Amino acid sequence: MNVLNKKSVEDIDVRGKKVLIRCDFNVKMENGVITSDKRIVASLPTIKYLLDNGAKVIACSHLGRPKGEFKPEFSLAPVAVRLGELLGIEVKMAKDVIGESAQTLAADLKEGEVLLLENVRFHKEETKNDPEFSKALASLAEIYVNDAFGSAHRAHCSTTGVADYLPAVGGYLIRKELEYIGGALENPQRPLVAILGGAKVSDKIGVITNLMEKVDTLIVGGGMAYTFFAAKGYSVGTSICEEDKIDMAREMMAAAEAKGVKFLIPVDNRLGKEYAEDTDVMVVDSDAIPDDWMGLDIGPKTEALFADAIKGAGTVIWNGPMGVSEWKNFASGTIAVATAIAESGSISIVGGGDSAAAVQKLGFADKMSHISTGGGASLEFLEGKDLPGVVALNDK
Ligand code: 3PG
Repeated sequence: MNVLNKKSVEDIDVRGKKVLIRCDFNVKMENGVITSDKRIVASLPTIKYLLDNGAKVIACSHLGRPKGEFKPEFSLAPVAVRLGELLGIEVKMAKDVIGESAQTLAADLKEGEVLLLENVRFHKEETKNDPEFSKALASLAEIYVNDAFGSAHRAHCSTTGVADYLPAVGGYLIRKELEYIGGALENPQRPLVAILGGAKVSDKIGVITNLMEKVDTLIVGGGMAYTFFAAKGYSVGTSICEEDKIDMAREMMAAAEAKGVKFLIPVDNRLGKEYAEDTDVMVVDSDAIPDDWMGLDIGPKTEALFADAIKGAGTVIWNGPMGVSEWKNFASGTIAVATAIAESGSISIVGGGDSAAAVQKLGFADKMSHISTGGGASLEFLEGKDLPGVVALNDK
């Protein structure tokens, strides 16, 4: 899958045309208030390009998982307000997705205006990629643009189905994401270092398997490291450990050795007495974890070890925090890794989801070359999978 072989907004004449653009406006909200507008900001280059080129823009997205019915807390209305503020124009908000409100507002739309449809997941057909729903959605417009990188791993009506009924091209965000992540995978400045964290090995098996073929160094931290400890015969106390993945962890370490890939796991750890923010803390080596303590962050020796491996990197791919980074006592490892990446001068790519949130919260966002807007999508791409939302676009 090469995004450069796919048509982009620049390969089609949008002037005077109604353009349906799928964005990923699945933003974080609390009580109807948007707590991070990063994904809305990321959609602006394509929307502005369409407006500057005289298109009538009909935006659509999902928000959360309302399971096929209207639920006010999943309404995209707050997104319409924020998008309007960012664009400096009024964004019209439809009361539905393909109903009377959407149809009337779409039909009356003028060049340079923006309409946002309601949450596409208010229809159960959306996630089933139902052809009739795709057709109805497509009938609102004349051109389809997919710029929802965060949802490109979903084969739903608004991400793939509509492409059967309209000329389908990609937007700037999709292209930027695929160029950065794809470039790091296929043609990296070496050494290529991957840092994987997060709670579970089972979530990252595909990524480790694919990256093993490409990287020079693979660093494992976070909760998933304890399954590797168990594979080495260490006791893990009450740390998270996936018993059924211990053999696989052992095989992965053996595969790394056979391939000449440097494979680093923590040599020491910050332990907590229990899973709580204010619990007692102690630091121990990885082969000395007491029975009733749990690993909640990497330790200081590991911070130095990982920082040293990151120092000479040409490219760094990072997915998953090193510990419970939202708690002060267990944020140190994630901060150390972020600092080392920032200081390395490498091309640095941070996968979406938890690691992107941690990097933003800890204040390192502007030090990274690229922070992905996709969680599941960036993981699937790192696994080497084709993304249906990109595959569905028209070839050049
Ligand atoms: C995400 O937040 O990863 C995307 O918006 C996809 O959401 P989904 O997992 O509900 O499809």
